Amino acid sequence: TEPTPESPGNDWSSWPTYDAASRGFRNYWYPIMWAEQIGQKPVPITLLGEKIVLVREGDQIHALHDRCPHRGVPLSLGRRQYEGTISCPYHGWTYRLDTGKMCAALTDGPSSPINGKVGVRTYAVEQRLGLVWIYVGDDDPAPVERDIPAELVENDFVLGGRWDIRPGNWRFAAENGFDEGHAKYLHNTALWRLFKVMPAWNETRIVEKDGWLIRVQDAVHWEAEFPGLGTWTNKRWWKRMPLPDAPGKAADVNPVIQGLDIPGFVSIRMPGLLRVAYPHFIHYEWYVPVDEDTVRYVQIMVRFEKGTKATAFKAKYLGAIRWLFHGQFTAQDAWMVDVMDAPPEKLYRPDLSLTAWRRHIEQVAPTVQQDPTVRVSK
Ligand code: FES
Repeated sequence: TEPTPESPGNDWSSWPTYDAASRGFRNYWYPIMWAEQIGQKPVPITLLGEKIVLVREGDQIHALHDRCPHRGVPLSLGRRQYEGTISCPYHGWTYRLDTGKMCAALTDGPSSPINGKVGVRTYAVEQRLGLVWIYVGDDDPAPVERDIPAELVENDFVLGGRWDIRPGNWRFAAENGFDEGHAKYLHNTALWRLFKVMPAWNETRIVEKDGWLIRVQDAVHWEAEFPGLGTWTNKRWWKRMPLPDAPGKAADVNPVIQGLDIPGFVSIRMPGLLRVAYPHFIHYEWYVPVDEDTVRYVQIMVRFEKGTKATAFKAKYLGAIRWLFHGQFTAQDAWMVDVMDAPPEKLYRPDLSLTAWRRHIEQVAPTVQQDPTVRVSK
């Protein structure tokens, strides 16, 4: 059939890179899971369609391609028989964890001609924020800090978080996060709303700052028609400006958050990280591509505090926020990401945020992840 403006990955698209990126982008660091979740047992994961096994040795975590080159058995099913190695469960080919090189074919003896001749690909691994980060790329990795928000590198903070694997393509999940309209409608039924006011009808523009696209909601539509429902603007959070509906409420913005001078509530950046800044804490969520149909959803809530305030937050997180915000609220997002079916699509005014994000990706022009099963078999 002839390509149409609605069908993806064709010459007509305004965002061909984005359309082609169903498996995400190479040359970025991705958070995977809590480092403490990786014990003696190898952990298999899929990242950008690549099968990877995570193996702990002491404080170090190693990541190797999870496929024995002999007959294609997952190394994650293997044994930890010798220090610094993992052995394939089928015929005992044994690989060094640090280099991926095969150092012994246990069923062919020390003189086996294939010893040292084959190996599996290894991936760079770092541990930050209590999470394991993996770099999927072709060149020497950039420092992991490049892909972590600067405010989390430069300040003391306490965090709570959770991750899960959800159905749906990562792009739907990322768009959902930055989507202005859903925040105003879908989440009206979220329990979290009982505690946090959400925006209603705002005029929106998108600005770029320090690699982030920021959704700025300056003014309110229809205030006269719906008094009291639409009186939310960014000024309430960041400008210390008492508003008629919340006098004095913005007077005690956390100094770190105030110092960021973010002009808008919600921001997104490559390779798929959302930041939602409140006066006293920031919520981040990473949309990590598992494969074309599944996304790893890593969310953390950060409070820039130390001492007793930090301890109090931790308790509050475990007792309430984890269930209300990181649970029921974002489960609503997961529901929509799972059931939506696009393209084709017809966009409306608040979808400005979606098109800005897609255009941003075209500008950055990242390397699109191709089907790794094809790459591996070449
Ligand atoms: Fe791994 Fe044979 S399949 S050693």
